[in-house]
Amino acid sequence: MIMEDLEQLRNSLMDEIAGSGDLDTLEAVRVRALGKKGAVTQHMKTLGGLEPDARKAAGQALNVLKDGLAAAIESRKADLAGAALSARLARETVDVTLPARPAPVGHIHPISQTMEELLAIFGEMGFSVAEGPDIEDDFHNFTALNIPEEHPARQDHDTFYLPPVEEGGARMVLRTHTSPVQIRTMQSVEPPIRIIVPGRTFRADSDATHSPMFHQVEGLVVDQATHMGHLKGTLIDFCRAFFGIEDLPVRFRPSYFPFTEPSAEVDIGCSREGGQLKIGHGKDWLEILGCGMVHPKVLQNCGIDPARYQGFAFGMGIERIAMLKYGMPDLRPFYDSDLRWLRHYGFLPLDVPSMVRGL
Ligand code: PHE
Repeated sequence: MIMEDLEQLRNSLMDEIAGSGDLDTLEAVRVRALGKKGAVTQHMKTLGGLEPDARKAAGQALNVLKDGLAAAIESRKADLAGAALSARLARETVDVTLPARPAPVGHIHPISQTMEELLAIFGEMGFSVAEGPDIEDDFHNFTALNIPEEHPARQDHDTFYLPPVEEGGARMVLRTHTSPVQIRTMQSVEPPIRIIVPGRTFRADSDATHSPMFHQVEGLVVDQATHMGHLKGTLIDFCRAFFGIEDLPVRFRPSYFPFTEPSAEVDIGCSREGGQLKIGHGKDWLEILGCGMVHPKVLQNCGIDPARYQGFAFGMGIERIAMLKYGMPDLRPFYDSDLRWLRHYGFLPLDVPSMVRGL
């Protein structure tokens, strides 16, 4: 083996290393030079046949060559890896200043949104949610609420009756209001009671402002010292929070419900100037809910002693207050599943109503 040969081998391998354009090519060069059958390794194997002095000199030269090549390969490798990373970073750059692509989103139905708003307001006041069945028996929907068999209110409600299960048996009803949940709650939990009841209700009635299926929210408070002042304070605060008008005029007008005594209907101030309905201070009033002190007979029907406990209750139509708040003229499209209507009147899913963030 002649030193010039080594010099030549070194030069050609160094050229190959420098010329490797990617990591695979570089690895192939490494195998050809330093691998088990590589050029340098082959030379190493010939050392055994040399005289000791020549072997020493050649061995040293080969080691220097080997180390030099290994270092060159490592450094080339680092360059190639760095270049590959830079290329990838350049290829995958993201322009963070571009506007976000609008994702196709569904909308929250105004009924759901309004229910959430009601729950946010009354939740803040310490009410919890109660629910009851859509199909009720006569006792819970009527009798326990002080609406006996012959009471005219039964006719007022345009009740949907289900066919009796057996000949001549009792007919179940689609509940005509959420008030039966008052009864179910008072029968099953001890006062103090403070509940809010959102749910579906049914009456055989249909026009621009009535649907055979609609939604109500019921409220019930029962405690030892509950009085009309609590009812008024609760509902005035509610109306002002719901419509977002701090000084919204609220009026309690004497009325009649079989299950409350005294009873009232609540009106809020509005103006109808120029055919445009505007909620707030104005000449006109708009009825939005019914309420009253729970009738002693109703407490009694549920096993609550009216000498010890008193309560107030209220109920309102969710569609109605949603239409008033959001300026929707017609009730019928609520249930048409028309996407154009939903996109127009619907709410964004992340706009969750809360008393802190706003309704
Ligand atoms: N249930 C009554 C209705 O449907 C509303 C109401 C509830 C009135 C509670 C007074 C108290 O019209």
